[in-house]
Amino acid sequence: MHIGTTLTNYIIETQRGIQGATGEFTGLLNDISVACKKISDLVDKGDLVGVLGSAGSENVQGETQKKLDIITNEVFIEALGHNGHAAGLASEEMDEICEMPAGAPRGHYLVLFDPLDGSSNIDVNVSVGTIFSILKAPEGVSDPKTEDFLQPGTKQIAAGYCLYGPSTMMVLTTGKGVQMFTLDKDFGEFLLTKDSVQIPEDTEEFAINMSNSRFWEAPVKRYIDECLAGKEGARDKDFNMRWVASMVAEVHRILSRGGVFMYPMDSKMQAKGTAGKLRLMYEANPMSFIIEQAGGASTTGRERIMDISPTGIHQRVPVVLGAKNEVERITRYHNEG
Ligand code: AHG
Ligand code: MN
Ligand code: MN
Ligand code: MN
Repeated sequence: MHIGTTLTNYIIETQRGIQGATGEFTGLLNDISVACKKISDLVDKGDLVGVLGSAGSENVQGETQKKLDIITNEVFIEALGHNGHAAGLASEEMDEICEMPAGAPRGHYLVLFDPLDGSSNIDVNVSVGTIFSILKAPEGVSDPKTEDFLQPGTKQIAAGYCLYGPSTMMVLTTGKGVQMFTLDKDFGEFLLTKDSVQIPEDTEEFAINMSNSRFWEAPVKRYIDECLAGKEGARDKDFNMRWVASMVAEVHRILSRGGVFMYPMDSKMQAKGTAGKLRLMYEANPMSFIIEQAGGASTTGRERIMDISPTGIHQRVPVVLGAKNEVERITRYHNEG
């Protein structure tokens, strides 16, 4: 596809010739892009329109919600609830799957989203994002229930994220590689700026929250100790480290210049009864689909993330993703015990 084409045109072109394509998927991605443009505008305006700060409430994950966590969630429901493209919606910020607006037409797709990723960064004017995962509602199901959403990541039809950074960028996969679109804010369109993005198999940059190191399992400690020891240790290279605390920014850096990202299981989370921090359905699965489509790998340290059969809509998992050879090494360390 030629560089500079619009996101909408890109979707129309890739859908052309697919038997039975009705335009519903094109419409759905258009709804998502409208939502992301609105969020981009709110994030740009920030304090000028009073959207920063805490809302004083907690979500189902036990996190304090920012005002923008709630507003962006509403923007998504408003953009996707009325147009007859989505059959159902689920979000990090809603305890249960979303009740669709009464009387609105229903489509065939399930959309799971993290409306504001990295929300701890919003009040300090650091990059945040939106992550989405698209599944098909099971055949003949027009009013999907929670169990209809619990499909493994391998079933995703598409996944993407929008990064609200110095530029606003939409990064998308429909299973045919990874494309990057940049929002031209003057005329309000996402334009294709990078096609067929690929992650180098090797890297010299890792991303992990080091403050959790005393809670990590032995295989994670072993890997990070080796990175820190660099050429003086078991590796033949020195490593650099980054931690933005916005998964979207972290994954975008890896797609742009390589790297490996980890939010592993740790004893603190285990004590709280969760296997990891990041959410399988609207963080780990969509990011894994994108990373794999760009030639990278994504595991929990023990198994491929997209092979997991979900047990709950808000299920959390450990995440190790990025450069293939590093992810394989970390996974080997876990399997060696
Ligand atoms: P969210 O803002 O959607 O709750 O997600 C935050 C996630 C993820 O984006 C990031 O990688 C991680 O939490 C940061 O966690 P720490 O603050 O523990 O470093
Ligand atoms: Mn959150
Ligand atoms: Mn998130
Ligand atoms: Mn979030």
